[in-house]
Amino acid sequence: MNFDIADASLANVGKQRINWADSEMPVLASIKERFAKELPFKGHVVAACMHITTETANLLRALKAGGAQVVACASNPLSTQDDVAASLVMHDQIPIFAVRGEDEKTYFSHIDSVLDARPTLTMDDGCDLVTRLHTQRPEQTASVIGGTEETTTGVIRLRAMEIDGALLYPIVAVNDADTKHMFDNRYGTGQSTLDGVIRATNVLLAGQVIVVAGYGYCGKGVASRARGMGAQVVVTEIDPIKALEAVMDGFRVETMAKAAREGDIFITVTGNRDVIVEEHFRVMKDGAILANSGHFDIEIDLKALSNLASGERRRMVKPMVEEFMINGEDRDIKIRVLAEGRLVNLGAAEGHPAAVMDMSFANQALAAEWVVLNVNTLKPQVYDVPREIDDEVARLKLASMGIDIDVLTPIQREYLGSWNHG
Ligand code: ADE
Repeated sequence: MNFDIADASLANVGKQRINWADSEMPVLASIKERFAKELPFKGHVVAACMHITTETANLLRALKAGGAQVVACASNPLSTQDDVAASLVMHDQIPIFAVRGEDEKTYFSHIDSVLDARPTLTMDDGCDLVTRLHTQRPEQTASVIGGTEETTTGVIRLRAMEIDGALLYPIVAVNDADTKHMFDNRYGTGQSTLDGVIRATNVLLAGQVIVVAGYGYCGKGVASRARGMGAQVVVTEIDPIKALEAVMDGFRVETMAKAAREGDIFITVTGNRDVIVEEHFRVMKDGAILANSGHFDIEIDLKALSNLASGERRRMVKPMVEEFMINGEDRDIKIRVLAEGRLVNLGAAEGHPAAVMDMSFANQALAAEWVVLNVNTLKPQVYDVPREIDDEVARLKLASMGIDIDVLTPIQREYLGSWNHG
């Protein structure tokens, strides 16, 4: 078996942590149990490009239990948990190509290794695997029946591919399921992002001015959790409706040009590039902390920051914290960037908690099964997760929490379907 991991001797530590996460993922566990009986993926090769975490390990093991041959690589150079990669290889015989801190060349060579397995299904987080497959090996897409995509950024890229007529097989936008983005993006990103900031810096959040760039579900989560920790939260947005929502949720909304002067901590979660750039760096407070929780490391203009602070004026002050001494308007200022401007929640912490990934990965597992079951009718386009799957994930999650809900009476159901009652 081919694989590339940092250290096989970490396998037992990884196994322990994977089991811990498993105990928080009852929905995925019940799906795994059914998969083991029904083997829906028999004969399929699943290539996954995802953050190699304890939660992903449980997803990959569920797919394998369902009869798939599974192979996986990292969807970000800094998010791999090396002990998890080791455990998947040593205990589950799942080939993993992922080493925490790998350079860009290795990152893409790992994607190539996964594609060498000639997948029939792809499972992507950020669309790098799908892009690589479509641009470098289009002939291989003929044997792929479909795929799934985990995150907002990936879905945006896929929809652009679909509009360009470039998408060559069907892909389910798992991100857009209600039981994914309303929970993972909001409560997962909200908690894990602050976890990353705290683990990297141990800074006291109470009383700080925290600037949150972007008020999508991820931004909403970060802003609300930061407020809960006693921070004064300022939101920046480009979308008038989201900006208005932030105002009415009780946050101050400002332009980045203004907020740059006021913030102690900046967190970008926009999914877009160049959110914090040179004009902002120059006016920041001395000691400002910058973190990103968007998928790619493009939200903070690190190239500009590197140009402003070279040689000894740029140094690692502690793990995951790099300091740039730059010329401010009238004095030198220190700017501290966390986790290389990459996903701070996965670079400096452990990513979203397992209990929320339970729902995201239940959607992944069921969406992949749906692709297999509907292979003859699907076209090369982006599909939503079917409502029945979304509802089922919510039902199973509620059941695992011991929560019952009311059911419509026949009269109520009839009323909702009627239009002639006054
Ligand atoms: N994305 C965010 N958190 C994650 C986690 N814990 N595992 C996999 N992907 C993630």
